[in-house]
Amino acid sequence: MAEDLHILKGSKEEQYQSLLPQIQGLLEGETDLIANLANVCGALKEQFNWLWIGFYLVKNDELVLGPFQGPVACTRIKKGRGVCGTAWAKAKTLVVENVEKFPGHIACSSLSKSEIVIPLLKDNVVIGVFDIDSVLLNDFDETDQLYLEKIVELILL
Ligand code: SME
Repeated sequence: MAEDLHILKGSKEEQYQSLLPQIQGLLEGETDLIANLANVCGALKEQFNWLWIGFYLVKNDELVLGPFQGPVACTRIKKGRGVCGTAWAKAKTLVVENVEKFPGHIACSSLSKSEIVIPLLKDNVVIGVFDIDSVLLNDFDETDQLYLEKIVELILL
């Protein structure tokens, strides 16, 4: 496994297309979930430099903070609370254009303006969520959803 990422400039689609096989390479041959979550955060931070990129894992019916890149964050989130807890309860990806308009949004950082949360589904059970926050309003769209869901699929293979 090469430990150096090749960071491509270009459209969002081109950036994901360049990054996806590299993430696949990082995950290949490593079975430890935490190691893989940590490297996915690192790779996405290097490529996109979003404010916060991280995982929460379901433990005793709560989301508990896992590997991340970015400022310190809240450590525990209940089901149905905030964007993360709602994505968990609904078992679906949530794209939030403006976090201030999301009822119950948990503001870990006042710099965060938009957010995407992808549930980690294993055998139809949510085992965690992948949360990304941006300093820009409306920074996430269907392209992000498509590729980030692919990345989550690779993690859970
Ligand atoms: N904003 C999230 C909480 C997690 S932090 O953004 C890292 C939410 O509302 O679920």
